Amino acid sequence: MRYAVIMAGGIGTRFWPVSRKEHPKQFLDIFGDGTLIQNTIARLQGLVPPERCLVVTHERYVEKTKKQLPAVPEENILAEPISRNTAPCIAYAATTLAKRDPDATMAVLPADHVIGNVARFHDTLDVAFDAAQERDALVTIGIDPTYPATGYGYIQYDGSGADPPALEAYPVRTFAEKPDQSTAERFIDAGDFLWNSGMFIWRADTILDQIETHLPDAHEAFAPVRAADGAADSETLTEAFRESPRISIDYGVMEQADTVYVVPGTFDWNDVGDWRAVYDLSEKDEHGNVIEGEVIMQDSSRCYVQTEDRLVVLVGIHDKVVVDTGDAVLVCDRESAQQVKQVVEYLHAHQ
Ligand code: GDD
Ligand code: MG
Repeated sequence: MRYAVIMAGGIGTRFWPVSRKEHPKQFLDIFGDGTLIQNTIARLQGLVPPERCLVVTHERYVEKTKKQLPAVPEENILAEPISRNTAPCIAYAATTLAKRDPDATMAVLPADHVIGNVARFHDTLDVAFDAAQERDALVTIGIDPTYPATGYGYIQYDGSGADPPALEAYPVRTFAEKPDQSTAERFIDAGDFLWNSGMFIWRADTILDQIETHLPDAHEAFAPVRAADGAADSETLTEAFRESPRISIDYGVMEQADTVYVVPGTFDWNDVGDWRAVYDLSEKDEHGNVIEGEVIMQDSSRCYVQTEDRLVVLVGIHDKVVVDTGDAVLVCDRESAQQVKQVVEYLHAHQ
């Protein structure tokens, strides 16, 4: 049977000041058409019903998750007592699913991406589900890269050279998570690399075997969770996460695994990584501005401005992001929006 596992435990530091610890990106309605996590579940309609969707999130977001996703059964919302990044999150979900259905195949999906052209998204996942079911392999969804990004994983694959590539699962030669700038440039020049979309499809038993091979400490940590009759109690779970290494599935498994396939996705994809991405995805006025809330602009262009309760006035300002939440104001260059993450890390360390 096919399942979806939505990873929704990230804290979204690049959307400060809107995205505080209590309001991470996946729970925000950034484009006024539903929150990112609601849209993640909604776009699965016709592929995986909500009863077969699992959401893994930190304990502190469980109530918010239930409220935003009333169609997902309560027992499918898996609470992590401690965040240990995506490898332990996936170990937990796969362990849970394998108990419920030994034949489970799961699509692991981030909760915070924007996807256009849902029909093609379904076609892509269909091919990936079949490949994962048949081959006992790890299947990724690749995205045609547009620039040498350093915040993504890269997948080198044996394509046929067709442009666009046919919709099928291709063997992967190399998986490289978040390369440095010069390596990313080399990958783009090579021409046979895709970005990793962060979506993975595999059988629950396959990924558990891979975790055992490449992350033996995580496998060991989850032994009592596997042994528990049904769902593990909270003490067992806390211990499992505490003992697990803090590592992403990309570094922990994907870079090490031998049998990886990629299906090149042909749908529109944006991981909405920062305010600049929100600007890019939003409808602009005739001056190229995007405005949310009470804002007056004079001789200002190509800005993203959002305010909750105060009037914001911009005069002679271009290519900037201004976000006012009442208790904090962010002003940054549109091109530097990635660096907001560092500021938030600084705040966490010093406040
Ligand atoms: N439950 C849970 N627990 N979810 C988590 C945790 C955790 O500890 N950490 C992160 N997540 C969720 C995030 O909310 C997000 O939906 C997803 O897992 C991916 O985590 P990110 O932190 O956003 O990863 P990334 O963007 O740096 O990199 C990944 O995605 C890129 C594409 O957007 C990698 O897979 C890259 O290879 C990929 O290119
Ligand atoms: Mg991300």
